[in-house]
Amino acid sequence: METTKINSWNEWDTLKHVIVGRADGTMVQAPEPGVVRDWPEDGFPKGTYGPLPEEMVHIANEQLDNLVRILEGRGIRVDRPEVLDFSQSVSTPDWTHESMFGCMPPRDVLITLGNEVLEATMSYRSRWFEYLCYRPLLQRYFHEDPDMRWEAAPKPRLTEASYRPGFWDEFEHMTYEQRLERGKRFDLLLTEEEPLFDAADIMRFGKDLFVQPSMVTNRSGIKWLRKHLPNHRVHEFIFEDDYPLHIDATWIPLRPGLVLHCGKRKADPELVKFFHLNDWEIVEAVTPRRTNGPLPPLCFCSEWLAINLLSIDEKTICLEASEEAQAEQLSGLGFEIIPVPFWDVAPFGGGLHCATVDLYREGTMQDYFPRRYGRF
Ligand code: ARG
Repeated sequence: METTKINSWNEWDTLKHVIVGRADGTMVQAPEPGVVRDWPEDGFPKGTYGPLPEEMVHIANEQLDNLVRILEGRGIRVDRPEVLDFSQSVSTPDWTHESMFGCMPPRDVLITLGNEVLEATMSYRSRWFEYLCYRPLLQRYFHEDPDMRWEAAPKPRLTEASYRPGFWDEFEHMTYEQRLERGKRFDLLLTEEEPLFDAADIMRFGKDLFVQPSMVTNRSGIKWLRKHLPNHRVHEFIFEDDYPLHIDATWIPLRPGLVLHCGKRKADPELVKFFHLNDWEIVEAVTPRRTNGPLPPLCFCSEWLAINLLSIDEKTICLEASEEAQAEQLSGLGFEIIPVPFWDVAPFGGGLHCATVDLYREGTMQDYFPRRYGRF
């Protein structure tokens, strides 16, 4: 039997054990207060829902399996989630929803913080039960690793009270600039009725965690994280973004002292000062290849998935294979690049970082920000 040890404090220490998601059965989810899809050209006009086409599932799974082979080839242990029937309707005593979503992006649901694996609350009804896909694995780790801490944030109610009434109607009719303005004020979809967060809105830098309020994470969610993690410093800040959703295509640490930034989403000047004060360099990522080209059909992510990368260690990065300018930039910064074709996975929920959750990286909790500044 393999021995399991849960330990991961940041995004760059040497990787030894990881979960990689699966594309099978992923749905364009039924409309709900948390999210509304509208893709008439690709067969899913507003109000409709259903599984993504078989052919797309097949290609995405090939790319995911290829990633697994690459990781295993480097001696990294890989586990996979259990696929459920995501087309089934689900209910709690408060509501019934016509569909689930899928299990391609484990990063949204789980986060490893040292020896703890934490299940996020999530904020879509279609994703309420997604943790079940990872339960067989978590149960196993719990039994195999005497030191593992298995935690789950309070399950949210997700009643109408958790969402601002009329949000989507207003949002639909807003310009990009108006959306940016609302984003800056964090006047978005979620109310503060109950703590809500997706794990992918958290970036781990050892003792410091950086969390963005977003379309799926509210301030109460960040407050909950702060109370839950007394040994960490949990920082909250906003990027200028018309649709903030998950931080891992925006602010990506590559190694101690170096963070990659999607310059289109301007960072809070206070955050920048805090990083500079602690001798961190912030590098603006080059323009992704797809900025002028089409994204795959049914994709709800942006071209910035180009920087949604997976570090194998402080010097080695798995990067989407076609993003050559990005590869060149990272090589220039001293990294070895492992090219991984992955754009066909995007419609299933994201890129290489989204598709993975690291369970073991060598190393311990370090303080990379010894100097305090302002509210940070
Ligand atoms: N919202 C990001 C973008 O479109 C994508 C981030 C996806 N991340 C994830 N963990 N699912 O740029």
